[in-house]
Amino acid sequence: MPDILPPVLTTARLRLRPFTHNDTAALFRVFSDAEVVRFWSTGAWTELAQAEQMIEEAMLAYREGGLSRYAIALAATDELIGICNLRGFFAQNRRCELGYALGSAHWGYGYAFEALDALLGYAFINLDMNRIEADIDPRNTASARLLERLGFRYEGTMPERWFVHGEFADTAYYGLLRRYRDERVLSRSSPGATG
Ligand SMILES: CC(C)(COP(=O)(O)OP(=O)(O)OC[C@H]1O[C@@H](n2cnc3c(N)ncnc32)[C@H](O)[C@@H]1OP(=O)(O)O)[C@@H](O)C(=O)NCCC(=O)NCCS
Repeated sequence: MPDILPPVLTTARLRLRPFTHNDTAALFRVFSDAEVVRFWSTGAWTELAQAEQMIEEAMLAYREGGLSRYAIALAATDELIGICNLRGFFAQNRRCELGYALGSAHWGYGYAFEALDALLGYAFINLDMNRIEADIDPRNTASARLLERLGFRYEGTMPERWFVHGEFADTAYYGLLRRYRDERVLSRSSPGATG
């Protein structure tokens, strides 16, 4: 279980880095947008204090472990455009859960894929996880597409697991095993592979 400041992860266009208090306004922009929280477990934020609270929780977790929450920032400007995290660490079984959200102005550019591909690499290689789980609303098609592109497999639905936005919502479970990812990486690198 990570119990120190998580290392910065860099990709071609992004930096995944720990939160700072300077992220408050940008984080608020992400989660005060009704489109972003349409399938999230809480309503749209209305107060800057809610952003400050998420940052405080992330900082506490950097010291105490149990949650590894990253700001997804544009490499060129360091502006926060979203978040991603690993939580629910179960050391004996080497598994944890993945969460993510991107500001709606940044959807459709492949940023979420790029960020999560790096985070998953960190989870499998540095944290030695064997299995990573994601729990999404089955109506969240952008999220399902993203998970499938990352190599996750659909594992089943739990009906009416959440009550949010005035209605019950189902959970669709997705899982990524280390061996699925190894198979993808091998097929991408083997000569003659077509993609
Ligand atoms: C889930 C979420 C992160 C997906 O974001 P996204 O931008 O669709 O995902 P990606 O970063 O993988 O981008 C893929 C899209 O960018 C397009 N794209 C453009 N340039 C690209 C590039 N260079 N590389 C890859 N994809 C690119 C792809 O064609 C794809 O579009 P499509 O799905 O219409 O075919 C976003 O919808 C979101 O934040 N939703 C709200 C929060 C949420 O629901 N989180 C999950 C709850 S558990």
